[in-house]
Amino acid sequence: MTLPDAVVQALRCSVCGDPVEPAGHALRCPKRHSFDLAKQGYVNLLHAKVPAGTADTAEMVAARAEFLAAGHYAPLADLVARQAKTSGLIVDAGAGTGYYLARALERNPGASGLAFDVSATALRRAAKAQERLGAVVWNLWEPWPLAGGSVSVLLNVFAPRNPAQFHRVLRPDGVLVVVSPRNGHLGELASVVDLLDVDPRKEERLDSGLTGRFELAHREDHVRGLTLSPEDVRRAVMMGPTAHHPQRLAGLDRLRDPVEVTTSFVLSVYRPRRVAE
Ligand SMILES: C[S@@+](CC[C@H](N)C(=O)[O-])C[C@H]1O[C@@H](n2cnc3c(N)ncnc32)[C@H](O)[C@@H]1O
Ligand SMILES: [Zn+2]
Repeated sequence: MTLPDAVVQALRCSVCGDPVEPAGHALRCPKRHSFDLAKQGYVNLLHAKVPAGTADTAEMVAARAEFLAAGHYAPLADLVARQAKTSGLIVDAGAGTGYYLARALERNPGASGLAFDVSATALRRAAKAQERLGAVVWNLWEPWPLAGGSVSVLLNVFAPRNPAQFHRVLRPDGVLVVVSPRNGHLGELASVVDLLDVDPRKEERLDSGLTGRFELAHREDHVRGLTLSPEDVRRAVMMGPTAHHPQRLAGLDRLRDPVEVTTSFVLSVYRPRRVAE
């Protein structure tokens, strides 16, 4: 297991910021800071502890992987991949199991991909999702261990956003593709479980965090009805934030019949503005 060359070239030592090179089953910088390549194919560049509860749990990751494998969000993945046209580096910030990044790489045979996530459990799956995909454990709230201007397409799908780092790593001609849930996403499930609400001002906040450094180039809504089996409903709930609140999940066990739900997302494509950092 190795990382794609283009990924290694863009990565920087998370201790000193120098470039890194493969050295046996590790990445190493000239100052000899070394990061082991796990046998499951990902590299952990973290050197500080991440607050408990930040990463998705193994149960959440498994639920997400099963739900995505059933194809419910395949049309959304195609929409994302269509916005990612490049032969350069595609980085997925908060990539989870690498589902969206793998689709984008399949559409771009000359491109390489880097999956950043704080969950090693998720990245074990991501590392196997596509052969041109490299997986790196990192906390998106820390300065990213990546060279400035090294990224052609940045994906951010239902994951934390760090606008300053987005801007620093993106090439001036690069694009940022953000997907977030809209109000009412899976709203029908509220009759089954006590779901955590999507923040009604989420979209406003999405733009307000990004507009200083990015301009919105394109936005589209993606609304689709789905019929979910009781097992799919369980996965859909367990892959989201409500999974952290077991007392809200009681209704799942009583569910016997399929449920009609509405999925509702907004996809936004941004281009970096020229700003003095
Ligand atoms: C809702 S999941 C979305 C995963 C993936 N984009 C998808 O849609 O399948 C959010 C992901 O963000 C990751 N995450 C949360 N906080 C993070 C942080 N501070 N740094 C890196 N990843 C983080 C979680 O581990 C999880 O994999
Ligand atoms: Zn170093």
